[in-house]
Amino acid sequence: MSPSDPAELERAVPRAAYPWAGRRVLVTGGCSFIGSHLVEALLAQGVRHLRVVDDLSTGKLANLAGPLAAGQVELIQADLLADGRAREAVKDIDVVFHLAAIHGGRGFIDLNQAKCARNLTLDGIVIDAAYQAGVEKFVFASSGCVYPVELQSDVNRTVYLSEDMVGPPFSADGMYGWAKLMAEETLRAYHKDFGFKSVSCRFFTAYGERCLESHAIIAMIGRAFLKLDPFEVWGDGTQIRNWTYVGDIVDGMIRAAEVVDDGSAINLGTEEPTRVIDAARQVLALAGHQAEIKLLTDMPTGPLNRVASNQVARERLGLAPRWRFADGLRRTLEWYFATHQAGDVAEGFERKLVER
Ligand SMILES: NC(=O)c1ccc[n+]([C@@H]2O[C@H](COP(=O)([O-])OP(=O)(O)OC[C@H]3O[C@@H](n4cnc5c(N)ncnc54)[C@H](O)[C@@H]3O)[C@@H](O)[C@H]2O)c1
Repeated sequence: MSPSDPAELERAVPRAAYPWAGRRVLVTGGCSFIGSHLVEALLAQGVRHLRVVDDLSTGKLANLAGPLAAGQVELIQADLLADGRAREAVKDIDVVFHLAAIHGGRGFIDLNQAKCARNLTLDGIVIDAAYQAGVEKFVFASSGCVYPVELQSDVNRTVYLSEDMVGPPFSADGMYGWAKLMAEETLRAYHKDFGFKSVSCRFFTAYGERCLESHAIIAMIGRAFLKLDPFEVWGDGTQIRNWTYVGDIVDGMIRAAEVVDDGSAINLGTEEPTRVIDAARQVLALAGHQAEIKLLTDMPTGPLNRVASNQVARERLGLAPRWRFADGLRRTLEWYFATHQAGDVAEGFERKLVER
């Protein structure tokens, strides 16, 4: 068993120097919440040729305001589903991080199956374009949604989802999960048959600065910011998640790009289970807001108990999450309170919870 302390792990699995400065890197969906953090982290690693392709359907230019103003990023605003755009995006690129997706929070992915199915096409086009263009390495933003939902149905039994639990007979979390799974399988097949180097990173319920209200933690922070009372929580509150701070997701993706070639999938998630009701109470306490919690049991909750194993990430990437939930939550809440205006947040707040 590998150690779980990040510093101890770093000593056990020393990081080899990776020549990021000489790599030409593409981030699809780079204006998104996670994508924009990844762009910043890649620049910090010394990447000098960094291209972002995004159609700005949910991504925002403001998320990349710093790098764009500094001329550190080449931005192509394009729909990767449109004819020829994926080919153009991957031209002269060494490493692709593919994050562009039709995605939202639970309210969106449960209620928009056909829209999520378009990811099957989007991922297929981008993967094949990258392979045809001779891209060296492909890093895919996959998800905990590839895991069989049946394993995540009992709040009294936490199963630490490990990578080998995804296999025949497959079962995934709605069309969004099936599309992520098919992209993983495509990459595995391209590696086996064509030697195309890749890795799929399965993110587990990311949160952090720039995340939108369509995701549970930001929805809760938004409600606390607006001082809503009663304070609504979707489900009966017993659902469990392992919220994973965006900094840990981004570190994991970059390390995966450096060391994994063989098309395998690796979880990026914490092993810290937290009940939704407890997260809500922490948000209220941090915000200094006292309110009655009202449980909305007919709203979408997703699987009842989703927590990752990070044993493979420890062993193969030499990484363990650095952020405990309490610390990441505090940081995220402080960011939200410092950067939002009540009028803007209040406008269409309920709609924001279910849209992309
Ligand atoms: N946020 C999470 O908890 C989470 C969990 C698992 C996986 N993921 C994956 O991580 C990635 C980033 O997600 P996110 O939460 O940061 O935000 P997001 O869903 O807003 O990111 C998607 C990005 O892709 C862009 N995009 C969508 N369709 C496009 C198209 N056809 N052409 C070009 N650009 C397009 C959007 O504008 C956006 O910037 C997605 O692939 C998502 O599926 C996120």
